[in-house]
Amino acid sequence: MTPLEELLAERIRRHGPIPFADFMRECLYHPVHGYYSKPEAQRFADYYTSVDVHPIFGRLLARKFAWMWEQLARPKEFWLVEAGAGVGRLAEHILDSCEAKLPGLYDALRYVAVERSASRLGQAAMRLQRHAAEGHLRVSPEIPTQIPAGCVFSNELMDALAVHRVVMREGALQEIFVGWDNGKFVDVMARVSTCAINEYFAAQGVMLRKGQHAEAGLEACDWITEVGRRIERGFALTIDYGHRAAELFDQRHMRGTLLAYRGHRVSEDFYASPGEQDLTAHVNFTALETWGQRSGLETAEFISQTAFLLVLGEPGEFADLYDEGQSEAHRIRARLQLKTLIHPEGMGERFQVLVQRKSSGKL
Ligand SMILES: C[S@@+](CC[C@H](N)C(=O)[O-])C[C@H]1O[C@@H](n2cnc3c(N)ncnc32)[C@H](O)[C@@H]1O
Repeated sequence: MTPLEELLAERIRRHGPIPFADFMRECLYHPVHGYYSKPEAQRFADYYTSVDVHPIFGRLLARKFAWMWEQLARPKEFWLVEAGAGVGRLAEHILDSCEAKLPGLYDALRYVAVERSASRLGQAAMRLQRHAAEGHLRVSPEIPTQIPAGCVFSNELMDALAVHRVVMREGALQEIFVGWDNGKFVDVMARVSTCAINEYFAAQGVMLRKGQHAEAGLEACDWITEVGRRIERGFALTIDYGHRAAELFDQRHMRGTLLAYRGHRVSEDFYASPGEQDLTAHVNFTALETWGQRSGLETAEFISQTAFLLVLGEPGEFADLYDEGQSEAHRIRARLQLKTLIHPEGMGERFQVLVQRKSSGKL
């Protein structure tokens, strides 16, 4: 038994079954035993993200932020808030690139690397010391309450937020709770724990099929509405794997999209080794659009990562993005890594980019 398994089992024995979202939140974010609460050392054993593939990903994103800064008429302070910044690797790539290639933007940049895990936040602070000393960055556990002009963005944050699990039975939604029986966690079906779950599907016009399993990402909905409230003028940019609702809840996804990752192996054993495996669900972009609108965020772009990166790289045919003075062998390697990011069979078509915009005076 992992220490977290003991804690969760005890809680369920005392108080009864808990919604899966509570179980998932504890598995990922319990302050001591949560998967993301531990310092990032073992991570590459489990998964990697676009950020880890090559700094080109951050360099291309820096260009998009320069475009946004121009769109907002070059404000003197451009707040760039990265949510779920992890150990600050992407922040480093973006800041280094702005400093070297986009000096006007760099001068205006007020980068806030936001991370919920204290140990990762500490790692990010160490890594980004130089940019912090120059007044361009700070790390924080919270998104700033007011963002006068700027962008809040995330890469693979939304898929790591807790979800409720439901199943359609006899014409009604049933929620899957986590119970404890005979020394193991078990699924327990019951009425939904909150009417927000019914509202989640109704607001998107989604009717699940008989026997269909699905996730309701209520945390992501609250998160994007709150982000919209905090931005006065600017953008929200979300990169993640997932779909719009029509695809996410179609007959190809009868079992839902929740998965567990450990050692680059994927499984549906969500209850194995709590706190030691990653749990993740595909992102529902329609929900982000619907709940973003409630605080004035209008959809500006929704495209695949392939299309998004190709547009940003095209002007210099990507050649200007490689490190200077590299050997030919290094260049070839970098080109192959770039392919992983943009190739449809790599990360390119699985990942989507949603850009939402808020104009001043909206809500
Ligand atoms: C899958 S990792 C992605 C890390 C990084 N963005 C990347 O692409 O490599 C998700 C990160 O989001 C953090 N996180 C989760 N919920 C958060 C929240 N509400 N606010 C800030 N960070 C959060 C986790 O602690 C974790 O470091």
